[in-house]
Parts: sequence; structure tokens; C-alpha cells
Amino acid sequence: MKTIALSSSQTIAYHDQGSGPVLLLIHAFPVDSHLWLPQLEALSRSHRVIAPDLPGFGGSAAAAWTIDGAAQIIAGFLDAIAITEPVALGGLSMGGYIAMAFARQFPQRLRALILADTRAEPDDDTAKQARAKMIAMAQEQGSVAIADAMLPKMLSDSRPHQVAEAVRTMIERQPASSIAAALAALRDRPDARPGLKKLEVPTLVLVGEADTITPLAMAQVIAESVTGAKLVTIPGAGHLANCEAPQAFNAAVSEFLSA
Ligand code: MLT
Repeated sequence: MKTIALSSSQTIAYHDQGSGPVLLLIHAFPVDSHLWLPQLEALSRSHRVIAPDLPGFGGSAAAAWTIDGAAQIIAGFLDAIAITEPVALGGLSMGGYIAMAFARQFPQRLRALILADTRAEPDDDTAKQARAKMIAMAQEQGSVAIADAMLPKMLSDSRPHQVAEAVRTMIERQPASSIAAALAALRDRPDARPGLKKLEVPTLVLVGEADTITPLAMAQVIAESVTGAKLVTIPGAGHLANCEAPQAFNAAVSEFLSA
């Protein structure tokens, strides 16, 4: 992995693999850029695949952030690594919230958008209360308790054991303070639906067939909001469809990007 300083206090760690058109991938909560290992390996045969750690996750320095602010950090990161051409941007779940925020703020920097296992709706009151409980859990019990609570929901019942173990390891190594900061950003995120209607960028919407966190109906809301968007369901996969069914996920992304 590489590291780049965006300012004296903000450093971003990132994977950068392959050459060709840039595919920038933003990870989900509460993991890090290693989520994208199956895509870094396969898609770097045709693309320069770049996957940063969000602030406080993986090797990136902690910072207070919001979903819209994270999009600005990503734009600053692209500037810092001298990528000026429009990129293909993909995000999974929380990464999708940030990708939609990037598309709202920097549409000229995009040539394609991939929104995987994510949703456009903001948190309702019940969801906000659940975030408060989870912030308390992170602060009082740490990231192992968060992994115990989240892992069953993030993967399908038929998940391979090694995928579940890799995701658990990723969650457990994130600092509890970073998990709590991200939960606040998730809780306070804006409604992405109005912005989606203004998008003019080719968009692929992906969803694991067995995703219970952001199920098919939520993917359909996104696909129906973006003119010309393509919706692909990944058979059998849960919320982290890119790790559970990497071949089907990568095939859908490759076909979309080469179209
Ligand atoms: C994620 O996978 O990034 C989270 O489930 C998103 C969320 O909780 O809203």
C-alpha cells in the first residue's frame, strides 16, 4: 500500500494497482480498502484500480468527517495523486453514499458510477436511534463487539468460512473511535435521491440477491432515479457482494466499464 499526505494532519493510505483508465473504489463500513482485494486483483488487468482507506480506517489518519466531506477528501486525494481525468467511481454501501455525494459535488470528474449494495434514502428516526446504540457499543465494548453484531448481517447464510473470517479480521482491526466517527457520519448523511435525478453519468447499480442491509428494493430506487442506469443482481450474495461472489461482481463491472 502507498500513503499520501493531503495536509499536515490528513494522510490517506491506498492500493494502486494496474494501468489504464482509473477505477476508484470506496469501501463499506466498518471495514477498509482490503474489502476490494478481489477487485484489485481481477480488474487491474484492464484498469488502474485505486482503493483508499477512509479517514481513521486501515492506514489512513483519523479525522472528523461527514459523507459530503468524505467526497471532498476523495477529490483532494485524486488531486494529490495527480489524477485529473474523469474516473470510474465505485462504492459499496457507505462507499456508495460517498460516491453519490461525489457525483453531486464533482460530476465533471466522473465518467462512470458504480453503486453496489447501497441506498439513497437517509436514516429515519429508528435508524438514527440504532446508530446511537451502536456508537455506545463501539465506545464501551470496542470493535470485536461491533464485528459480532454486524458480521451476521453483512454476508449471506451460505458465505464461505474464509470470507467471513477475512471480514471479521478487517472489522476487528479498525479503531473503535473511527467506527464511532463513521457511525455519526452515516447517521447524519443527506437524502441522495434528489441528486440522483440530476445525474448524467453512466451508472451501474449492483445488489447481492441475499442483501438484507440494503436489499433489492433499495437498489431499484437508485436505478429508477438515474436516467439509463443498469441494475444487476448478484445471485446468492449478501451485503458484501463483491467478496462473496467476486466473479459475478467483477464480470458485471467489467462488462459495464467496457460498454
Ligand atoms: C455499510 O455496509 O457500509 C453499512 O451497512 C452502511 C450503513 O449502515 O448504512
